[in-house]
Amino acid sequence: MRIFDIPKLGEPKFLSPLKLSSIDGDAVCNYVSDDRRIRFNIYYPQEVLDYELKYSLRGDDVTKYINETIEVAGPRERIFFDPEHTSCAIVTCGGLSPGLNNVVRAVVSELYYSYHVKRILGVRYGFAGLNPASGYELMPLHPDEIRTLSNFGGTFLGTSRGNQDVTVMVDELVKNKIDVLFSIGGDGTQRGNYDIFKEIQRRNLPISVIGIPKTIDNDIHLVEKTFGFETAFSKAAESIICAHSEAQSHYNGIGLVKLMGRHSGFIAGYAALALSDVNYVLVPEVPFDLYGPKGFLEDLRKRLERRQHAVIVVAEGAGQEYLTESGEKDESGNKRPSDIGMFLRNEIEKFLRKNNLGGTVKYIDPSYIIRSIPPTPGDALFCSQLGQYAVHAGMSGRTGMLVAWRNNVFVHLPVSAVVNNTKKINPESSFWLSVLGATGQPHNMVNRPRQYLPV
Ligand code: F6P
Repeated sequence: MRIFDIPKLGEPKFLSPLKLSSIDGDAVCNYVSDDRRIRFNIYYPQEVLDYELKYSLRGDDVTKYINETIEVAGPRERIFFDPEHTSCAIVTCGGLSPGLNNVVRAVVSELYYSYHVKRILGVRYGFAGLNPASGYELMPLHPDEIRTLSNFGGTFLGTSRGNQDVTVMVDELVKNKIDVLFSIGGDGTQRGNYDIFKEIQRRNLPISVIGIPKTIDNDIHLVEKTFGFETAFSKAAESIICAHSEAQSHYNGIGLVKLMGRHSGFIAGYAALALSDVNYVLVPEVPFDLYGPKGFLEDLRKRLERRQHAVIVVAEGAGQEYLTESGEKDESGNKRPSDIGMFLRNEIEKFLRKNNLGGTVKYIDPSYIIRSIPPTPGDALFCSQLGQYAVHAGMSGRTGMLVAWRNNVFVHLPVSAVVNNTKKINPESSFWLSVLGATGQPHNMVNRPRQYLPV
């Protein structure tokens, strides 16, 4: 097996009911052939892996990836499951992300209208719904009944964090005669999907597991964009606009916004780059000193001297070394970060007082507001397509994979390739350079240069 090989359940014996074409130029959409692939490494010459790509493979042997290609998603002419006798289930897991209902609706509509699959079941409250001990019944889904739900945030199926006993979950799939499980969630969910897939493989069952990556943090390894991210950073941008108004309206006014992002600062970086009003973006990936001649506070002082106001955006996972560990964990066992927002607010206020700078700090934490709203049209469109591509993949008999957006193409990624890493901002990337260009913050705010080794 090569890194990007997609596991398959068997020979696709049935003709797709989609009635597409295989001929170019007949104005009928074409099936996607199984050998259509894109290069993993888009740089040239092929032997060269760009540093951004290398960075994303942190800890992995990059030579393994140089000549690899990735399967393109889309409807196949021959499918594995006989639609008339196919049952599908859909589960939404983890924290909310705008567009969850849209993805569910797209999966149900594509199954029902395009493939004529009639038995579609919703799993309630995440993986907990696959454990009968939780007492949640599976919920029959029909496109007519869920049509309007995509206008709402949240997930009408319910969600939860944390995994369940994998043997119990697979027993439940078997008991309910499920052929394809569509599982929507972030990195924890993808790890759960991988475990379910392996257990199904161990038992040699013809059940497909198709993941649809979701997280507002946009931190899933090898996946360029997750749904909900665009909505989240767009909503976050509203807080920044308000912080800027507050800051500008006061002498030495400081607008401080804390945004979600435990391990990766994409929301903070994108929201800041989308507006040109942010002067500092602090993210977990880029270390900074708070004090000292080259530290953040000294730079802030200079900024106030020049402009008499400043806007700061901080990702919740940034600067954790300044705080004592919260000691808290969420239901998935992930550490909860300590509150960098309140800490910074206090430190900045102390600094202003100590240096007789006057001024005021206006602190905004939009918190869950950025992830519980309905999706932007851009995200909604993305969700519709993700749902459709997931159905094509599942019906074709692919399994142990997720549908993903990469290099501007919908592709299939084996779940095994994404579960052992997290996507992070590369501080040496063109993206981070753009953020620095838009903010004007120094390339580094450390007193002594450090060799930065990402974890
Ligand atoms: O995974 C997305 C995320 O929004 C993180 O940025 C955040 O730390 C976390 O979820 C908080 O979610 P919850 O409070 O539901 O555990």
